[in-house]
Amino acid sequence: MRNTFVIFGGTGDLTNRKLLPAFFHLLEEEKLPQEMEIVIIGRRPYSQEQYLAQLETILSPKIIQNSIWKKLQSHLYYYQMNYENKEEYPSLEQFLSSVDEKHHTNHQRIYYLAVAPEYFAPIVDYLEENKLLHPVQGYPKVVIEKPFGKDLNSASYLNGKIVSRFKEENTYRIDHYLGKEMLQNIMVIRFANALFEPIWNKDFIEQIQISSLETIGIETRGDYYEKSGATRDMAQSHLLQLLSLVAMEKPASLSSDAIRDEKVKVLNRLKRYPEEEIHHHIVRAQYQSYRQEPKVYSESSTETYFALHATIDNPRWSGVPFFIRTGKKAAKKETEIIIQFKAIKNGLYPEVVNLPNFLVIKIQPSEGIFFQFNAKKPGTQSLIVPVQMDFCQNCQTGINSPEAYERLLFDVIRGDATLFARWDEVKSSWEFIDSIMTHWANHPETLSFYPDNTWGPIASDELMRQWGYQWINLGEKE
Ligand SMILES: NC(=O)c1ccc[n+]([C@@H]2O[C@H](COP(=O)([O-])OP(=O)(O)OC[C@H]3O[C@@H](n4cnc5c(N)ncnc54)[C@H](OP(=O)(O)O)[C@@H]3O)[C@@H](O)[C@H]2O)c1
Repeated sequence: MRNTFVIFGGTGDLTNRKLLPAFFHLLEEEKLPQEMEIVIIGRRPYSQEQYLAQLETILSPKIIQNSIWKKLQSHLYYYQMNYENKEEYPSLEQFLSSVDEKHHTNHQRIYYLAVAPEYFAPIVDYLEENKLLHPVQGYPKVVIEKPFGKDLNSASYLNGKIVSRFKEENTYRIDHYLGKEMLQNIMVIRFANALFEPIWNKDFIEQIQISSLETIGIETRGDYYEKSGATRDMAQSHLLQLLSLVAMEKPASLSSDAIRDEKVKVLNRLKRYPEEEIHHHIVRAQYQSYRQEPKVYSESSTETYFALHATIDNPRWSGVPFFIRTGKKAAKKETEIIIQFKAIKNGLYPEVVNLPNFLVIKIQPSEGIFFQFNAKKPGTQSLIVPVQMDFCQNCQTGINSPEAYERLLFDVIRGDATLFARWDEVKSSWEFIDSIMTHWANHPETLSFYPDNTWGPIASDELMRQWGYQWINLGEKE
C-alpha cells in the first residue's frame, strides 16, 4: 500500500523522540512500505535542508550515523504552516498532491495529530473543508494522541467530530501503553498457559494490584500536568486499559473487535460508587515539592498520586479486589501487575496459609514474569519457604523489545487497530473517572500529601488496610 504520512506537530518532542526513531527502526527492519512519504508539519520557518540538518543535532548518533538514516531522510518532507489558520489549508492540499504525484502515493493518507487536544477538532474540520479527506483510493486514516478529552463531555464532542470525518476502523486513538511488549504478552500468558487459564478467576485469585510508579516528578510539563493530574494522565487511559486486559473474558477470536468487545465489557462492569461512598475507594495526593515546580499554581490541588479499590461486577470476578495506584516522585520506578492467588487452607501444610503464590507481570523498566511459589527448604528440617522464578525478558541478549511507537506505527500502516482504544472503551472509562472527578471538585479537602521519593501517602496504606490488604512491593515480599 502506498501511503503518505502527514504529521501535524512534526517539530515537537513526540515526533523527534518517538515517531522518527520508530520510523527509522521500521525502515531498518524493512517493515515500511516501499512507497511511503512522511510530511512533517511545523510552524518554524525551516527550509527542507535546515529541517534535516537540525534533526541531526536531535536524533541519537546511532541513528544519524547509520546508512538507513540517509534512506529515511529521502522520504521526509518539511512543510511550514500554522495549522490554526484555515486559509493555509488549500496550499497544504496542493503540496500533498504534489508529493502524491511525484511518488505515486495517492492510495492512502494517514494524518497523525501530534498536537495539543484543543486543535484536534479544528484541524479535522479544516482538512474536510479543503477536500483533504476525500479518498482518491483508500479512505484516510487519523491517528490521535492522548489525552482524548478531559472528561466525558469533551471526549464525546471530539469523538463526534472525528466520526463525522473518519470511519471508526480508520481512527487510531493512541494509548502507547498498549504498544508495550508485556501488555501484548498479557493475553498470551493468560490464554496460552494451562497453568493459568483455568484458575484466572475468583475461586483462585485473592487480589490483583496494578501499579505504575515513577521516581521523577513532572519536570518541565507543569502546564500540561496542571490540567490533567495523575488520574486523567494515567488512570483513565493506561491503567484502566491494563485492568481490562487482565480481567476480560476470552475473546471469540484474535480480531481487534473481538478483543475490544471483551475489554469494554470489563469497563462497563466496573462498579460505580455512589457519591457518599467514593472516599472509601479512592485516594488522591500530591508530592510535597509539587507546588514549587515550574508552571504549577502555588495552591494547586492537582493530584500526582491516585489509588483506587475497584471491583468488577461479573461472575468471574465477584468479590475480588483490584487495587490500582499511580504516582510521581515515588520510591521506585516500576509498572507491574501483581496477581495474588488464594493460599491453600486446611491443607497438609497449615503454615502455607500465609504463603500465597504470586504472579507478577513486569511491564517497565524491567520486562518479564516473576512467579513465587512454595518449596521445601533444603536440609533436615521440613521447612517450607517461598521461592521465585524470575524471567527477565529485556535482560536477555538478543531480545530487544521494540519501542511501543514502533509497533503502533506499524499497526496503523497495516491497518490493525487491536492496540488502539475504540470509542466505546474511551467512553466507558471516562464515565467511570468522571464520577470521581466530580466528587473531588465537591470535596477539595480529600487531597493529601506525601514526601517526595516515598511509596505515597499514608491515606493509601489506610485505604488498603480498610479492605484487609497492603500494597505489595516487589523485592520486599520474601
Ligand atoms: N511528548 C511526548 O512524549 C508525548 C507522549 C504522549 C502524548 N503526547 C501528546 O502529543 C501531543 C504533542 O506533544 P509534544 O510533546 O510533541 O508537543 P510539543 O513538543 O509542544 O510540540 C508541539 C508541536 O506542535 C506544533 N505547533 C504548535 N502550534 C502550532 C500551530 N499553530 N501551527 C503549526 N504547528 C504548531 C509545534 O510546532 P513548532 O515547534 O514548529 O512551533 C510543535 O511541532 C500533545 O497532545 C501531547 O499531550 C506527547
